[in-house]
Amino acid sequence: MATVLAFDVYGTLIDTHGVVAELEQRLAGQDRSDLAPEFSRRWRDKQLEYSFRRGLMGAYVDFSHCTREALEFTDRALQTRFSETDKEHLMGVYARLPAFPEASAALDRLAEAGIRCVAFSNGSREAVEGLLVQAGIRARFETVVSVDEVKRFKPDPAVYAHLRYRLESEPGDTWLISSNAFDVIGARHAGLHAAWVRRSPDAPFDPWGIDPDLTVPDLDALAERLS
Ligand code: 2OP
Repeated sequence: MATVLAFDVYGTLIDTHGVVAELEQRLAGQDRSDLAPEFSRRWRDKQLEYSFRRGLMGAYVDFSHCTREALEFTDRALQTRFSETDKEHLMGVYARLPAFPEASAALDRLAEAGIRCVAFSNGSREAVEGLLVQAGIRARFETVVSVDEVKRFKPDPAVYAHLRYRLESEPGDTWLISSNAFDVIGARHAGLHAAWVRRSPDAPFDPWGIDPDLTVPDLDALAERLS
């Protein structure tokens, strides 16, 4: 059975902090544009926290609801007082985030080496398809696997089992590629291989004793190692 790489989407292929420039513009009117990076980080952290909490509560919703509710929370927490129009606009920007600059060439290299690649995300299939198309990298993937098909969020073991079911792959042939440590640990816990894309050289990995099989700084280095 051939190796198959399942790429996490938000934060791994797609740069969630691509929204910072838009936030800077929207915050300039309040003379608070320096708050944009913190807003972006807190929005992303809260989005993930909401997915974890909803997973524990058995209260699944489409991931875009977590994103929208996290935006609302961050707006309240930082007292940025965005209008409804601003929030709708920011959600639109979130649906058109850019790919990381090296993603396209790295995926080409993996394809040339005959390695199967799929996208695997908390996002709905529609959201992820749209995101990858506008980022210009959809054609590099055999398919999109969404947790929405099982109505659970990462790192529930059911989503990694579903990934294998969709790919008809064995655990030993299936790799998760993710910049999100919780995702890497979830995949390893479920018996898959996992590579951690450590985009920030200072980022610590969770000290759980469940380590990635491979750690790389970006997708170029991943393609170098696996192709
Ligand atoms: C994804 O599933 C966890 O945000 C991450 O795309």
